[in-house]
Amino acid sequence: MRNKSQCLSFSLLFFFIFFLFSYHQSQAQPSTTGYTCSANQTTYPCQTYAFYRASAPDLLDLASIADLFSVSRRMISEPSNISSPSSPLIQNQPLFVPITCSCKTLNASYTISFANLSYTIKSGDTFYLVSTNKYQNLTTYQSVEVVNPTFVPTKLEVGDVIIFPVFCKCPNQTQLRNRVNYLVSYVLQPSENLSSVASRFGIETQAIIDVNGNNIRPFDTLFVPVARLPELKQPAVAPSTSPSAETPSRKTERKGVIIGLSIGLGICGASLVLAAGMWIYREALLKKKREIEIDQEKQKLQFNKGGKDLKDMEVNFMADVSDCLDKYRIFKIEELREATDSFSEDCLIQGSVYKGNIHGEIYAIKMMKWNACEELKILQKVNHGNLVKLEGFCIDPEDANCYLIYEYIENGSLHSWLHEYKNENLNWKTRLRIAIDVANGLQYIHEHTRPRVVHKDIKSSNILLDSNMRAKIANFGLAKSGCNAITMHIVGTQGYIAPEYLADGVVSTKMDVFSFGVVLLELISGKEAIDEEGKVLWAKVEGILEGNEERKVKRVKEWMDKILLQDSISMESVMSAMGIAIACLHKDPSKRPSMVDIVYALSKSDDLLSDISDDALSSSQVSAR
Ligand SMILES: *[C@@H]1O[C@H](CO)[C@@H](O)[C@H](O)[C@H]1NC(C)=O
Ligand SMILES: *[C@@H]1O[C@H](CO)[C@@H](O)[C@H](O)[C@H]1NC(C)=O
Ligand SMILES: *[C@@H]1O[C@H](CO)[C@@H](O)[C@H](O)[C@H]1NC(C)=O
Ligand SMILES: *[C@@H]1O[C@H](CO)[C@@H](O)[C@H](O)[C@H]1NC(C)=O
Ligand SMILES: *[C@@H]1O[C@H](CO)[C@@H](O)[C@H](O)[C@H]1NC(C)=O
Ligand SMILES: *[C@@H]1O[C@H](CO)[C@@H](O)[C@H](O)[C@H]1NC(C)=O
Ligand SMILES: *[C@@H]1O[C@H](CO)[C@@H](O)[C@H](O)[C@H]1NC(C)=O
Repeated sequence: MRNKSQCLSFSLLFFFIFFLFSYHQSQAQPSTTGYTCSANQTTYPCQTYAFYRASAPDLLDLASIADLFSVSRRMISEPSNISSPSSPLIQNQPLFVPITCSCKTLNASYTISFANLSYTIKSGDTFYLVSTNKYQNLTTYQSVEVVNPTFVPTKLEVGDVIIFPVFCKCPNQTQLRNRVNYLVSYVLQPSENLSSVASRFGIETQAIIDVNGNNIRPFDTLFVPVARLPELKQPAVAPSTSPSAETPSRKTERKGVIIGLSIGLGICGASLVLAAGMWIYREALLKKKREIEIDQEKQKLQFNKGGKDLKDMEVNFMADVSDCLDKYRIFKIEELREATDSFSEDCLIQGSVYKGNIHGEIYAIKMMKWNACEELKILQKVNHGNLVKLEGFCIDPEDANCYLIYEYIENGSLHSWLHEYKNENLNWKTRLRIAIDVANGLQYIHEHTRPRVVHKDIKSSNILLDSNMRAKIANFGLAKSGCNAITMHIVGTQGYIAPEYLADGVVSTKMDVFSFGVVLLELISGKEAIDEEGKVLWAKVEGILEGNEERKVKRVKEWMDKILLQDSISMESVMSAMGIAIACLHKDPSKRPSMVDIVYALSKSDDLLSDISDDALSSSQVSAR
């Protein structure tokens, strides 16, 4: 029954949809309540980025945008190619804001991924206005309602703290293997279409469609799969509506563009280090015999100067890698594939770390993204019994992936022992030993490496326990050596981050001291660094050591891990550890003790224990797992 007017109205409708939505798809409902994720996907949580546009009047400087996303200004300026965190922004200036993406089950049938951002309601705010204006549609009011079931949207009061779930996704194992390291959250603008977004990120339109489908409407969030962030042109007027409609079959050209870009664009984060590094490394492999002869002194000198420009960086990296060549075993990619069953999920320990059996020896194998070289550079400088040992590495020349191979630590992380294996018990003496081990490891990297190394991510899950329950610090992925000019844009771990770092991005050894203080609190209390309500542990001990001795002991006894009280323990030793923890948590970094002081004080506290006869460890502890 097709007549003229039906046909006409049909084509009008067609055109209407075409113009309005850029894509001739029927109207599929957007994900107003969020994007589902699979709770068993092991790659959650991850660090990713949201694309954000500076906007007048309130959000035209990095400080207020950083506040909105609970990060420091520097964490935005670095990935966004802005030279100074204090530079003013212009309307629509494009930014990459780091977010931590988690997959959360909200009720039995509803699991979505989002970055959990707290926002304090101000006068005139509604869920809708904050979602659409401040968070620029990176979330929706519907999803805000879902994650804040206790608040009535029409009865908000100034000062209410609301969670705004900024939409995000973490790449799954398959995607990671295909070098999709980030799925950047991006809100499609009415003036854009998928091909203009693709060309802005230097990828193919099809890659976006594969991840998001192709019925994306303006103001929907889409996830742009990239191996690394593109460098933003700053300052520039965004959104760019560049008219290039890329056809989806220009793989080599695209690759060329990305590599060309990365090489051409000066120092802009570690992506460059990796790209450049891998090139240089490949060169080095090809011209194996033409080895660079740089004597030790000269090498140090160059490193100390820090990579001021690309040339310097190349030389440094060359020197560093050539150094590794004879110090470490170089594994073949085939060996690693065989050891890990082609990096199967069964071999996954956590994150991107796999357990692998190479010719009868067990190793932990870490598959690296762009931060590989920094960790390699740092690890090859350190060698200490309380740091996890790097055994070797592997660079896959095919896809420029990098793998670090570490000793395998049998007993897993301190975090698991304290918070997961509920029926396993660490006695006080063991806990104190662990604290001293960690303090020793930190003292070593702070005092005995040149330049000094700051770990930046000390937390109980980065502390591993060997078969004798002795502790080793792992995961130097975020670590930074003092005078290296290249900085990583990272987010530490909530609950452990020193306040000054969060506020201004100040990196110093004292931020490790702060995190160490939090670990010490975990050891004493058996509580997590951040509880289910998001309250940080360190904020709860304020004033605990005030008043007279009797009161202090009473308060600490109430607060500490009750399991510890089952044994005859020295309260004196616990009080001393508590005092050290409190000192580490001083708001003013300069007032915190150094690791040298801490090792000394803890060892004294250990002496207090020596009269208590307690065979080092109970066998159940050692045999567990
Ligand atoms: C993850 O969960 C889904 C169902 O939610 C299931 O189909 C899949 O097999 C699970 N994958 C793994 C690796 O456990
Ligand atoms: C889970 O939450 C969603 C969103 O609020 C809701 O639509 C759904 O009915 C809930 N399911 C159950 C089983 O409670
Ligand atoms: C968010 O989306 C709404 C429409 O849903 C639109 O009116 C508003 O301008 C968008 N906000 C921004 C900052 O683009
Ligand atoms: C990973 O994500 C892609 C794109 O969403 C999907 O096609 C693929 O099935 C996923 N793989 C696994 C193992 O979940
Ligand atoms: C970074 O910003 C500067 C201007 O601040 C610009 O000249 C340069 O091209 C940008 N770099 C990239 C990689 O876009
Ligand atoms: C996408 O937008 C650009 C201009 O912004 C235009 O030249 C191009 O034709 C558009 N592509 C499609 C598929 O609509
Ligand atoms: C989000 O974080 C807050 C604290 O930052 C916490 O109270 C809340 O439980 C978290 N919500 C979800 C759904 O993860």
